[in-house]
Amino acid sequence: MPVTENWKPKIVAFCCNWCSYAGADLAGSSRLAYPADVKIIKVPCSCRVNPMFILRAFEKGADGVIMCGCHPGDCHYSTGNYYARRRMTLLFSMLDYLGVENGRTRVEWVSAAEGVKFSETMNSFVEKVRSLGPSVRLGDLRCKN
Ligand code: FES
Repeated sequence: MPVTENWKPKIVAFCCNWCSYAGADLAGSSRLAYPADVKIIKVPCSCRVNPMFILRAFEKGADGVIMCGCHPGDCHYSTGNYYARRRMTLLFSMLDYLGVENGRTRVEWVSAAEGVKFSETMNSFVEKVRSLGPSVRLGDLRCKN
């Protein structure tokens, strides 16, 4: 698919309520810019992100999916992010096997005090996905125009 200069990737960001979402909030209230193409979905904890959510996002047209949670050891449900990390490691290797480029998925730990990190992470992730172009591997062709 030809990529035009103005093409903007569709990014889905799953953010845990206690740290990453608060980090996104801090980025917003500190007026730190990150692309509007990032659509944040707030989840209670990163372990709430079922791998099917990510497959579904790609199926529905997302070009990149990022999952953000509390730093290891800081999860408000004590070990939720450890489970999430394990699950995502397996999912990402499966996606790699299916031909979905590595750069389209990412896990990042962002605390409530890291608005700058949230903004920088989103900017770099969007740039990476932009360089990869539109995701076509898992897209449901019925969703395309
Ligand atoms: Fe943030 Fe569990 S509450 S990762």
